[in-house]
Parts: sequence; C-alpha cells; structure tokens
Amino acid sequence: MNFGVITDTQYADIPDFKLDKHDRRYRLSIKKLQEAIIEFNKHELDFVINLGDLIDQKFESFDDILPVFKNLKAPVWHVLGNHDFDSGDRELHTRLPLKLVTDKLGLNSNYYSKSSGDWTFIMLDSNEVGVIEGPNDSKEFLYGERVLNKLKEENIYNSKPWNGSLGEKQISWLKEVLSSAEKAGQQVIVFAHHSLYPKHRENMLFPKKIINELENHKNVAVFMNGHNHNGDYGIKNGIHFVTFRGMVDTAKNSFAIVELSKKIKISGFGRETSRVLEI
Ligand SMILES: [Fe+2]
Repeated sequence: MNFGVITDTQYADIPDFKLDKHDRRYRLSIKKLQEAIIEFNKHELDFVINLGDLIDQKFESFDDILPVFKNLKAPVWHVLGNHDFDSGDRELHTRLPLKLVTDKLGLNSNYYSKSSGDWTFIMLDSNEVGVIEGPNDSKEFLYGERVLNKLKEENIYNSKPWNGSLGEKQISWLKEVLSSAEKAGQQVIVFAHHSLYPKHRENMLFPKKIINELENHKNVAVFMNGHNHNGDYGIKNGIHFVTFRGMVDTAKNSFAIVELSKKIKISGFGRETSRVLEI
C-alpha cells in the first residue's frame, strides 16, 4: 500500500507572518497543496492523510482550501488539528464546536479507523481533552480547562492551550481497535495531529498514558503526526514516531509519500526528510 502525507497546511487569507524562527506563508498553502496533489496523482496511492490544521484563523478558510482536494485522484482522510477549531474571534478565543468542523470535513466521527489487507489505520482526535474543541461553555470544554490549569500549576512541560489529548471513551475504542487488528494479524499505523514522542513542548497532553496503550500491543508499527512544524523522529520499544514538517512554513513545500512493504519507506518532498523504517 502507498499513501500521501500532508500536514499543517494552515491556509488563511491573511498576510505572511515572520518573527524569529517563524516564517508562515498562509496564502501560499493553496499553491503548495495544488503542487502536492499534482505529485500525488503521478503515483498509485490508496489514500492521502491530512494530519490536521488544514486551516488557520477562521472557519471560512475551509471554503478556499477544501475545493483544492477535488483534483486529487486518491481519497483524502482527515485528522483534526487544533487550528481547525479557529473561529476567527481573536479576542475571546472562542472555539468552533466539534460537529461544525467534522461536518465541514465530511467526517461521521472525530476518530475512526480503516482496514485494508495486512494493515489497520487509526485516525485519532488528540484535541478532545483541553481547550481546543468548543463551544467554550460546553461541559467538555470547562472540564478541559480545569485539566489544563492543573497541569500548568504542576509546571508540566507541554501544558499549552494548543495541546490536547484523547478522552476516556476514545482510549477504550483505541484499545478495542488495536486488539481486533492484533487478532486479525494486521500491523497498525496510528495517525494524530499532536506528537507523543520524543519529548517536546508540542506533545499531546498525557503522552505516557497513550504511549502505554500503544505499547500494550505488539502490532503498532508507526505513530505519525504533525503539529510540531519542524518535524521529528524517535523510536521507543519498537514503535517508530514520525513528526512531519508543516506545509505552511517558508516558500518551500513539504509533503511525503509512504510505501508500505516489509519496510516503511518515506519519500520526502521539499523540506520533508526521507526515511526507511524497519518493522
Ligand atoms: Fe497544530
């Protein structure tokens, strides 16, 4: 199987942002995504995974970026990122309700899985716990706010408002999917927006808890994510953790094509790193 990877497109019709190491070209993301799709269409891909943060700043940004996918031959599978809930309200920082965003992306659920041949693919929603998914007066949001404040008081390295985690129901679901894939003799690739490993300030809240769930099963080959735009890689107890670079940064594009066989071959385009992962 082969698939394409894009992440942190963060399209918005706003001026570029340059400060210190930041160099974000929000408007250019339309052209970069078009270029990535031209490359993807040259290959026989089973799907393209979008690892989240398709937009930035406001809900209306979806109306400009989503039509670009119409030129893609392969289906696109969306993972939700923190910026996908940006309402445009920069003052009150209100967040968009989950259903509004999943409906816009054509998702029946905020997390889901798909199986094909020897593989199961799990698309997680790492925004559930925290202050990312709105509305801001919902029970879930207020609970997330309490959780985040407690982590901040304890000076936990990744206690940031743009980081989130999985709710208990999603964790139980994850365990079930991993177990059934194990019984079916399938290898698993887990996708999420936030990173888990190596240690980084952009990591998901409660990363060890989620890593433990993955390590409890022998069939997890790779965890793939975006969010940390610089990219990263680590291996822990046989599981590879790959962070893909953000498309929005700099004038140069960034995306990848992954080939699954006895090894996992990642071909990076533009700023993305190429890697071969032993499984
Ligand atoms: Fe993000």
